[in-house]
Amino acid sequence: MTALDLRDLAGGTAVVTGAASGIGAALARRAATLGMHVVLADFDADGLARIAAELADADVFAVRCDVTDAADVDRLAAATADRFGPVRLLVNNAGVESTGRLWEMAPDRFERVLAVNVTGVFHGIRAFVPRMIADATDAIIVNTTSVGAVTTMPAQAAYVASKHAALALTECLAVELAETGAPIRVAAFLPGPVHTDIYARADADGVAGDALRARMRDFLRERGVTPAAAADALFEGLATGEFWIYTDAERADELLRRRADRLTGHLPPG
Ligand SMILES: NC(=O)c1ccc[n+]([C@@H]2O[C@H](COP(=O)([O-])OP(=O)(O)OC[C@H]3O[C@@H](n4cnc5c(N)ncnc54)[C@H](O)[C@@H]3O)[C@@H](O)[C@H]2O)c1
Repeated sequence: MTALDLRDLAGGTAVVTGAASGIGAALARRAATLGMHVVLADFDADGLARIAAELADADVFAVRCDVTDAADVDRLAAATADRFGPVRLLVNNAGVESTGRLWEMAPDRFERVLAVNVTGVFHGIRAFVPRMIADATDAIIVNTTSVGAVTTMPAQAAYVASKHAALALTECLAVELAETGAPIRVAAFLPGPVHTDIYARADADGVAGDALRARMRDFLRERGVTPAAAADALFEGLATGEFWIYTDAERADELLRRRADRLTGHLPPG
């Protein structure tokens, strides 16, 4: 674990995908407060314009980018380098939900969840890491996964599978980068419930999908932490040098213990 003085981030460049709302917007605000140049990336042009206007006093650069599109993410990396030079912090954060039982999900919805939540993270890594290695300056890559990456939840299998995959990508990335000796740190961000519009934007299939989407919207409103609190948790985790960063470490520990008990106890999912 390498601790970080957050003041060292001042003057560096942060790139945040999914920055037009929710957790991504809060991360962008926090990075701006720390004196970073901030690249806001999202495919929602109106949302981007709103956050860019809000952060007009900071050095922000809004780039419309669909993380599922390889060429778009390549353009994002090139535009970032042209504008600000080396990247200090990359947060692959864009994500979508889609609820419904596996056999009731429309194929295009299943594929979209995987495309944004997994392939989008891959594109972020693919487009930025070679530049970071060439820059040979200290850098951090954070992938936003979820506590869903270590749990099993009915009627959101596509999301859960995508987050398990995104976490696996993150762990592999850490090991691969360690092999190269590049000064690039990797962290996995596993938020618990955060009060954002992710379920308001979610597609839903079938009765179970509709019911879960409605229940989760209420749950996030009633029990979710604020996006600002989630951003604080991420930056605190970066400061202490953690790889695994949670918004609620106690609850995450409980979920991890349950998962470990199932795996080591040869117990079926439940
Ligand atoms: N809200 C929660 O409770 C929670 C919990 C765990 C993990 N997460 C994860 O946090 C991340 C942010 O979610 P949020 O809750 O802030 O949701 P949100 O819907 O508020 O924000 C997601 C952002 O991603 C953008 N986006 C979606 N598809 C995109 C694409 N193809 N290209 C570029 N941008 C795209 C959206 O436009 C939006 O601005 C996601 O990865 C999500 O899975 C959220």
